[in-house]
Amino acid sequence: MFSGLIIEAAYFLAALLFIYGLKRMASPVTARSGIVVAGWGMVLAVAAAFLYGLDVNERAEPRLVVNFVLVIVALALGIGWAWRSGKKVAMTDMPQMVALYNGMGGGAAAAIAATELFSGNAQAHGLVVTVLAVLGGLIGSVALSGSLVAWAKLDGRMNGTIRLPAQQIINAGLFFAALAIGAAIVAAGLAGGGVPMLLIALFFVVALVLGVMLTTPIGGADMPVVISLYNAFTGLAVAFEGFVLQNPAMIIAGTVVGSAGTLLTLMMAKAMNRPVSNVIFSQFGETGDGDDSEIEGSMKSAEASDAAIAMYYASKVIIVPGYGLAVAQAQHKLYEFVKLLQKQGVDVRFAIHPVAGRMPGHMNVLLAEAGVPYDIIYDLEDINEEFTLADVAIVLGANDVVNPAARTKKSSPIYGMPILNVDYAQQAYVVKRGQGKGYSGVENELFYAENTSMVYGDAQKVMAQMIEAVKSLG
Ligand code: TAP
Repeated sequence: MFSGLIIEAAYFLAALLFIYGLKRMASPVTARSGIVVAGWGMVLAVAAAFLYGLDVNERAEPRLVVNFVLVIVALALGIGWAWRSGKKVAMTDMPQMVALYNGMGGGAAAAIAATELFSGNAQAHGLVVTVLAVLGGLIGSVALSGSLVAWAKLDGRMNGTIRLPAQQIINAGLFFAALAIGAAIVAAGLAGGGVPMLLIALFFVVALVLGVMLTTPIGGADMPVVISLYNAFTGLAVAFEGFVLQNPAMIIAGTVVGSAGTLLTLMMAKAMNRPVSNVIFSQFGETGDGDDSEIEGSMKSAEASDAAIAMYYASKVIIVPGYGLAVAQAQHKLYEFVKLLQKQGVDVRFAIHPVAGRMPGHMNVLLAEAGVPYDIIYDLEDINEEFTLADVAIVLGANDVVNPAARTKKSSPIYGMPILNVDYAQQAYVVKRGQGKGYSGVENELFYAENTSMVYGDAQKVMAQMIEAVKSLG
């Protein structure tokens, strides 16, 4: 009884820590401490789960039989692996790591569903619990296999898109087959005669195949939306299985992840101008092969020193960072250069596109790492009007997020995506290594514009040259 109260209190406190931690993650200033707070919530929830296991004999209806040795071995392996990979992961590899860990969450939820269904625990607790176990199992399995495919693609272990003829019909067939088998499991469980093991195994196989089939056709710029969608799926599956196990921490953590993932999915889809319904039901990965014809003008190149001097004598400069900045790890040199401009009295601002880089908040993290103050970093909607007032806009390793074709070219795969108005500045400089295209694979009209000059080179090397050029001025 006493430990029961402690467990309930610990779960409640863990839930409060999750929510408070998430709230702190809303601002870059408090985000780091938010992660630590939510992490402590997780430690508490795990400790409470141990107490739950110890308390099991006092329960009229024990729901968990805990094998502590196995649990401790699993925890040690999981913590050790996550600690090591978390420490050594490169910032540019973060999206695939998120995909992988997200898949693990979905897999854990599906494993709980499998345990509860195979053991008959779920069925013994009636219709609602069985239905939730089945739904959580389906969603968790899709999140697991789908996220693993996403990880393999982002990590370069699986290239291109695999699209079968009648892909959507096959996917719909798999989905309805999983639902039908799930319904059969629920019906057999309620009838009381026990559910054939084969049926349960078939259910999970179909659900896992569905996750693979949904994700293999995806390529190009839809991938981040898909990962975020699977993140929401994982949260939902964990919440459902929390109901099955009557574990409040799982219900709350799952609901928080599910709703945060759903919101992020909607916001990213909006930022990339891809309706979520379109992403889910039909045109997965329909982007990629743009119509690059009809671009007028020619590219002009400039020296790094010319661009640096133009900025030194400007009154307002807007910097647009992109994926290439992360690749070059040029953020520290960039900020060193910005400080030189500020010393000269130049008003310098950073413009961040919501899907610049390869993960949500990628550029903010990069700039925070270099110590760039938050009050000169602006989101797209807060700065887009200001490009017309800028003497110079400089693009560092960004491409798609500044492509004016998104405004005008209906045939372009990025048509409709809001972009940063670099082309409206008096003078634009674009720093990139060569003629490489952006993530969506389309040519960029900005590079051919009258007021644009290309500064070719690795962003870090170019920044070093710019610093030298400005320092030599005095
Ligand atoms: P991209 O369109 O990917 O363009 C990056 C550019 O950086 C390339 O054109 C490349 O040109 C240049 N670059 C690469 N390495 C460089 C280096 N070392 N130094 C200088 N330049 C370098 O980047 P973006 O504008 O940030 O757009 C992001 C794209 O990724 C969008 O299409 C978005 O939908 C997609 N996406 C976003 C996310 C999230 S959530 N942020 C996740 C996945 C995908 P060169 O090869 O010529 O150097």
